[in-house]
Amino acid sequence: MRGIRSGSIDLIYLDPPFNSKHDYAAPIGSKAAGAAFKDTWSLSDIDKEWWGEISESHPALYKLLDAVQHVGGKSMMAYAIYMAVRIIEMHRILKPTGSIYLHCDTTAGHYLKLLMDSVFGAANYRNSITWQRTNPHNDAGRYGRISDVLLFYKKGNHVWNTQYTELSDKTRAMYRHKDGRGVYRGLPLTAESLSGGGYRYEYHGHDRVWRRPRESMMQLERDGLVHLPKRDGGLPEKKLYLSDAKGVPVQDIWTDIRPALGRERVGYPTQKPLALLERIISASSNPGDVVFDPFCGCATACLAAEKLGRRWIGIDISELAARLIKSRMLDAARAKDGEQETIDRFTVGAGQIIHRTDIPRQHVQRDPCIKNKLYGVQEGVCKGCTKHFEIRHMHVDHEIPKAKGGQDDDGNLQLLCGSCNTIKGTKTMAELKARLRELGILPER
Ligand SMILES: C[S@@+](CC[C@H](N)C(=O)[O-])C[C@H]1O[C@@H](n2cnc3c(N)ncnc32)[C@H](O)[C@@H]1O
Repeated sequence: MRGIRSGSIDLIYLDPPFNSKHDYAAPIGSKAAGAAFKDTWSLSDIDKEWWGEISESHPALYKLLDAVQHVGGKSMMAYAIYMAVRIIEMHRILKPTGSIYLHCDTTAGHYLKLLMDSVFGAANYRNSITWQRTNPHNDAGRYGRISDVLLFYKKGNHVWNTQYTELSDKTRAMYRHKDGRGVYRGLPLTAESLSGGGYRYEYHGHDRVWRRPRESMMQLERDGLVHLPKRDGGLPEKKLYLSDAKGVPVQDIWTDIRPALGRERVGYPTQKPLALLERIISASSNPGDVVFDPFCGCATACLAAEKLGRRWIGIDISELAARLIKSRMLDAARAKDGEQETIDRFTVGAGQIIHRTDIPRQHVQRDPCIKNKLYGVQEGVCKGCTKHFEIRHMHVDHEIPKAKGGQDDDGNLQLLCGSCNTIKGTKTMAELKARLRELGILPER
């Protein structure tokens, strides 16, 4: 993720390990055979530099993680640190119009909610979507656990396309009238059941409070959109044609998406259904946008993005996941004759898919005035020892060292005085600060 440019991604979906204390393996004989990942956590899984980075750059998050240890124990804290460093990166690479969906379950979901609130801001929280992922069953001593949770956050003024589910048979049965334009149902035109005002007048022999003024009502009638009941006493109603009914807007409990089954199923542990990702991608991105899944597994999000005309990036620690992406994409596209294919680069439809195992480097043109700009932003103060220096004694430094995947973009550049710059070398800020404390240059915390 460090190789991805800041503010370049439109939608992130992540389905990370859940801290389930299980190790997952794909069944032998399935397309995914050999795929495995562990989901047990201890502090030895954590790079202590991450911990240091968080303490320097996100003090509130640091305190939160400390609290996680007290409540959830060391394993939960290790998992939370692992997730926190990644959530910080996701926030960096997401566009201001972007959205993020964090797929989890109730094992660690409440801790993850706090991490997300801390990094994305509680005000940017949109929903906790409950997805019924399996059929009812008996769980000893508790209610059956059949759902996952998707934490949905935005970053700013986000893309949103309301999604609709199909009308139920019960609702369809309400469309029982027909005219030359098609099948329709009647919707109330009176305002009596509504709070607030209305317009009182007599209309077709009914002295009532109506939802629209008389002239607007007459126009509706001229447009052929008023249903006049034949039976005595029946009130005029507004026609809603079945062909115009979009369906029911999707709510925050999803029970209509079944697990991946049949031909869709490749056997990858924890494979998610395409329909789930298609809903998320359709709601929170537009064609041509970039969808990113940092734990992409067998590429369900990538495939859904491809089908919906979005560009996509997937990352997975497992080499097998990368191979599965390729085979799923090619299966889906039914590779045409003459398509060029090599192991690392192949085409599907109009697009080209590139498989790489190195950390991509951003090709950023360094702003020639960056030193002056940073000097202004930092008001001449070194980010290490916090002392004031003249600009000629300052050096442009990579906050996250290049050796650790830090990039050349402005967000990763800072000014250090000559001596802090020498001490830091390829170390992290946390290591520099620790050294400055040892030397007595910075006070103890
Ligand atoms: C729950 S699965 C994702 C399943 C995926 N949504 C799908 O539909 O196939 C989690 C994935 O995270 C990957 N993973 C675990 N640790 C990782 C890490 N540090 N970086 C990237 N991927 C990792 C695992 O290999 C696994 O494929």
